[in-house]
This record gives sequence, C-alpha cells and structure tokens, in this order.
Amino acid sequence: MLKEIEAKFRELYNQEPVVVRSPGRVNLIGEHTDYNEGFVLPAAINKEMFFAMAPNGTNTFRAYSFNLEERADFDLSQVKPSDMGWANYLLGVVAQLQRAGHNVKGFDVVFGGNVPIGAGLSSSAALECGMAFGLNEIFGFGIEKLTLVKMAQKAEHEYAGVMCGIMDQFASMFGKRDHAIKLDCRSLEYAYYHLAMEDYRIVLCDTQVKHSLASSEYNTRRKECEAGVAILHRYYPEVLSLRGATLDMLAQHQQEFDPVVYRRCTYVVSENNRVEAACADLARGDMKSFGKRMYASHEGLQHDYEVSCPELDFLVEQAKRSDKVLGARMMGGGFGGCTINLVQIDALDTFVQQMEQAYQQRFGITLKTYIAEIVDGSSFAE
Ligand code: GLA
Repeated sequence: MLKEIEAKFRELYNQEPVVVRSPGRVNLIGEHTDYNEGFVLPAAINKEMFFAMAPNGTNTFRAYSFNLEERADFDLSQVKPSDMGWANYLLGVVAQLQRAGHNVKGFDVVFGGNVPIGAGLSSSAALECGMAFGLNEIFGFGIEKLTLVKMAQKAEHEYAGVMCGIMDQFASMFGKRDHAIKLDCRSLEYAYYHLAMEDYRIVLCDTQVKHSLASSEYNTRRKECEAGVAILHRYYPEVLSLRGATLDMLAQHQQEFDPVVYRRCTYVVSENNRVEAACADLARGDMKSFGKRMYASHEGLQHDYEVSCPELDFLVEQAKRSDKVLGARMMGGGFGGCTINLVQIDALDTFVQQMEQAYQQRFGITLKTYIAEIVDGSSFAE
C-alpha cells in the first residue's frame, strides 16, 4: 500500500514526497486510567497509517485520502473544523502547530493505511501522530516527540470532540518493537517492558460494532471521576486525581458518594494497581498471572465502570472457556471495538475458528481477527 500511496502522490502533485508511517495501538492493561493520571500499558502495532507529503510552495494544504478516494484543499490562513470527518484529524494538528507559533506553509499529503476505523485501535491517533511527525520533518520545526504527542491529543479534543487521555497518541509516537510501554500519565515518565512473544500471540477480536454511546459516555466517565476526586479532595487535599486515591480512602467516605461514582472510582484505583502488578508479572515473565489480571480488568470495566457491551462480554466469556487463552479483555474506550486476547501460539488457529463460529452463531456477525505484532512508533517509512 505504501508504494501505491507514493505513486498516487506523484500522480496528483508531481513531486517527490517524504514518507512517514504511524501505527495504531493495543493496550495490554490499564483502561480509562490515562485521564485519571494513572498507568497504562499500550504498545504500537502493525496496523499503520502511511503519509506521503511535501511542501508545495503555496498557502494551501491539499489532502487526499487513499482509502476513501476523497480529495480536499484547505486555506492555511483560516484553519477551522471541516465537515469532512477525516480531514479534521489533519486540520486539528495543523491548528495546534499554528497555535504554538509554527509557520505551517502550504503542503500536499496523500495518506492511507490499514488501521481499521472504529475498532478501538486508535486510527485517529495514528493519523494525528503521523501528520504531526511528518509536518515536523518537512518544515524542520525541530519539535520534540512528547510535544508532538500533546499536540496530537489536543487535536483530538478540539477537532474530533473526544476528551481523550494521552495514551493513544503516546503509544503511536513512542512505540518500540516487541515492547509494551508502561506510561505514568501523571509524570509522563515511561519504561519499556519486553514482551517475550515466543510462546503466545496477541489476538484482537473485532466485534464490528460501535455503539453510539461511545463518545458521550466517555466524557461522562471523566466527569464521574472528577466528582469522586472532588469529594476525596476535601479530606485529602493532596488528592488531585484518582491516581492519588486509594481503596481505603474511598471506603472511608463511601457514604458520601453517589453509588455509581463510587463504583467508577474503585474501578480506576483497582485498575491502576493492576497495571503495576501486571508490569511486575512481565518483569518476572509470568504471563499466566498477567493474563488473569486482564480478565479482572474486564470484570471491572463490565460491572463497575460499565463501558463494555454484550458483544465484548460474549467474546471475553468465550475466550475464558479455553485454557489456551491466558487472558482477555475489552480494549480502549469501550462500547464496541476489539477484545485483546493473549493466546498460546499452538492454539491460534483453533482459537480463531472457535471465536468466529461462536460470534457468528450468537450475533450473526462475521468476526474479524487480527494478530497484533508489536512495532516501533512513528518514523520514516522504509
Ligand atoms: C480511548 C482514549 C484513551 C483512553 C482509552 C481508555 O482510547 O482515546 O485516551 O482513555 O479510551 O483507556
């Protein structure tokens, strides 16, 4: 596909492009913790967006979506959200660069890739990060990667309307082959954990559904967590986010909490604890224990945080039936998208077959599955 994207660029714009790739991500554990200043454990995967781009000497940004075969031009002197959904991810990044005082001159871009849209694999972060990385290169802005990540996240807030945390963009930019990234979303310190992939694979089961609740409920969860923090903060002034809270603190003040808010908060605090424990598992190479924590994470997301859906729950239940599956959970924002499964390599084919069959029978939908390989973050494409 990369070659075709480059060829399309030459055909449309008659010049030589710089070529950049930017990956989607999985998250092994640590869900809905990023915007609570907690821990996450994502990794970049071999589902990627590619960009061919170059300055064009005008004041116009000309874009072509290879997948949608759609073209659009934008005046760089008045960047604003567009009614073309895909263009907003690109425009959002341009707007951030401009706001930071960078002189974004005219440029051309052809982009496309194989990150499934709406499957919870962060196709939007891949777009934003690729765009930020590419513009930084072609105009020589010299912006640090972490700053690019923050700009990409802001682009999502302002041009896609999702108040996402920093995980997706961070993973897309900072991914490292065969490693998961433990990111502390408060200090933004991070550490790579090697994933020994000899005996197992990460399999994604794509429900093919995206319930419309997803983005409104996402923003509601943020508010519920803030409501919990506001209560705790009265007693523990040092608690500024759920990251600073403990299960004990919550239990002490349970009567003052709305029961729903209480469940949201206990989930987040428990999930943070689970990420730390899961990283210790990885360091010991104890994948069995790691897998159990994935199941526990799902339980919390299903019952306490309530961001799952029947399709995701069904897939996790099915996975549990096989002793060849070490762990499974819903992944990302929820209400659809993929489950992530840790599967023994000798059982891959059977697992995929059984899941497909069961899902077809139960929902009449053809399940899509992907084997996720862990790759490097945004870079020039080879
Ligand atoms: C989405 C957001 C992330 C994160 C996850 C849930 O993917 O973009 O920032 O909050 O949901 O963990």
